[in-house]
Amino acid sequence: MTVSPVSNAMRLYINIDHVATLREARKTDEPDPVEGARLAERAGADGITAHLREDRRHIHDRDLERLRETITTRLNIELATDPGVLDLVCRLQPYQATIVPERREEITTEGGLDLSREDPRLRTTIDRLNAAGARVSLFIDPDRRAIEAAKELGVPAIELHTGRYAHTWRAGEHAIDQLREASRFARKIGLAVQAGHGLTYLNVSPVAAIPEIEELNIGHSILSRAMLTGMSEAVGAMRRLIPAG
Ligand code: PXP
Repeated sequence: MTVSPVSNAMRLYINIDHVATLREARKTDEPDPVEGARLAERAGADGITAHLREDRRHIHDRDLERLRETITTRLNIELATDPGVLDLVCRLQPYQATIVPERREEITTEGGLDLSREDPRLRTTIDRLNAAGARVSLFIDPDRRAIEAAKELGVPAIELHTGRYAHTWRAGEHAIDQLREASRFARKIGLAVQAGHGLTYLNVSPVAAIPEIEELNIGHSILSRAMLTGMSEAVGAMRRLIPAG
């Protein structure tokens, strides 16, 4: 696979849901996703992304309220069309709101929105977010018809689902070609292009080299690395509190 150098300035948004996932494993107050967001910003993140799921399995309403109050970059809230979640997001008025599909049993967002037929809840969600002043982005597969449908819905931005690329990049060029083509087409018809899902330190470069993409949303890989690179410091701090034999 050829990897061309990054040719454009691209915003990096950090998805901090996994900090809350770890907290919820114990239902306690650490680690704090808001502190995670603060550290991510200090390290150069251009924005913070958090997904408020209908079942509140990781991020809670209060996390979002605190993020809205404290972050100094930009907040991108991911949400499905659930009315309760929508009420909260409209009240918080984030810089950006990304509409994603959501199924209770999924581990993470597994595919893009299905825009092949009219969905009154999606229309209402877009209208209400617009009225709240949020920049609306739709999370879709890198597919021409989905991009055209997003354009027809009148949103300014789309986020291309990079999951297929993330699962197949070792096997060939097809999925990255699809992302390149989708990005070019979306830009040509006037949509801002973002991308994310499954991007890692090993597979991000070809995506980061697509000139039409202006923003990447990355969570799992960065938080995985953060946990391991922080291990020495964390163990050392505890070691100093406990008498050594
Ligand atoms: N973009 C969207 C819309 C997502 O739902 C997610 C996963 O929460 C991401 C980006 C980040 O994906 P990952 O955690 O695999 O980097």
